[in-house]
Amino acid sequence: MPASPTIYRTVDDLRAAVAAWRRDGLRVGMVPTMGALHSGHLELVRAARERADRVIVTIFVNPTQFAPNEDFGSYPRTEAGDVAKLTEIGVEAVFAPNANEMYPAGYATTVSLAGPAVGLETDFRPHFFSGVATVVSKLLIAGFPDVALFGEKDYQQLMVLRQMARDLRLPTEIVGLPTIREPDGLALSSRNAYLSAEERQLATTISRVMRKAAGEIQAGAAIEPALSEGRVALEAAGFRVDYLVVRNADTLAELDGSAAEPRRMLVAAWLGKTRLIDNIAV
Ligand code: PAJ
Repeated sequence: MPASPTIYRTVDDLRAAVAAWRRDGLRVGMVPTMGALHSGHLELVRAARERADRVIVTIFVNPTQFAPNEDFGSYPRTEAGDVAKLTEIGVEAVFAPNANEMYPAGYATTVSLAGPAVGLETDFRPHFFSGVATVVSKLLIAGFPDVALFGEKDYQQLMVLRQMARDLRLPTEIVGLPTIREPDGLALSSRNAYLSAEERQLATTISRVMRKAAGEIQAGAAIEPALSEGRVALEAAGFRVDYLVVRNADTLAELDGSAAEPRRMLVAAWLGKTRLIDNIAV
């Protein structure tokens, strides 16, 4: 039976552990999560395992990235089960602070963003990336990992965090890994647990619609008509679409029309009370 990770609740305790590893010349990896771990998270953890001598998984449902009307209260919290999954893979540390540890009473410092944080998710969840960037910067400063791993599932988040690490000169390499999907194409997400059985069936429409539109565009079809056809297909299946767009894959800016530009299709859509996001290369 592999050893359980040590669970750290405070920044000071995590820092002491990391300092000891560093004195021994060990390489440290970090995988930030909000818990409710699924195979998508666990792939990041396995990749960290391969790239680092010591792996820290953080589990923190970050209040500042939820708006008051969002699902902070109902977000799944399954720490014991998460730790059991991490024990199977074998990680040295779980950092699972409480909200007061990350946001001491009277805190007044946050990270503000522009560049890839402008538009898309921000148009619908204006609070979101500032909350994400603030907590991730605090986690990276607490653990100072050599490498931190994130999923392409949250593509705009990955671009925002890359930019942040660059701009703040953080000494951490930001690595993005491909989205892990169910056999029917649905991207794994902790929020999939909110879907009813019927919604779960319909949810595969998202990846199907994206693949179809991306295939048409790659074969030379005009982008806007392919996307509007995709929006219509999603709405016909019962989704309410926040956006379905193609952007520059590196900057998330609008396309400049040049053929060589790397492209990414990104979607956010509601199915009942659940908001799903996904993206693929075009
Ligand atoms: P969470 O949604 O728990 O996701 C943690 C990490 O797992 C993120 O990097 C996310 O992109 C990745 N991930 C989720 N589903 C995935 C999938 N199907 N395939 C591959 N990777 C996947 O994202 C967050 O938490 C938070 O915003 C966080 C960065 C922890 C800040 O609070």
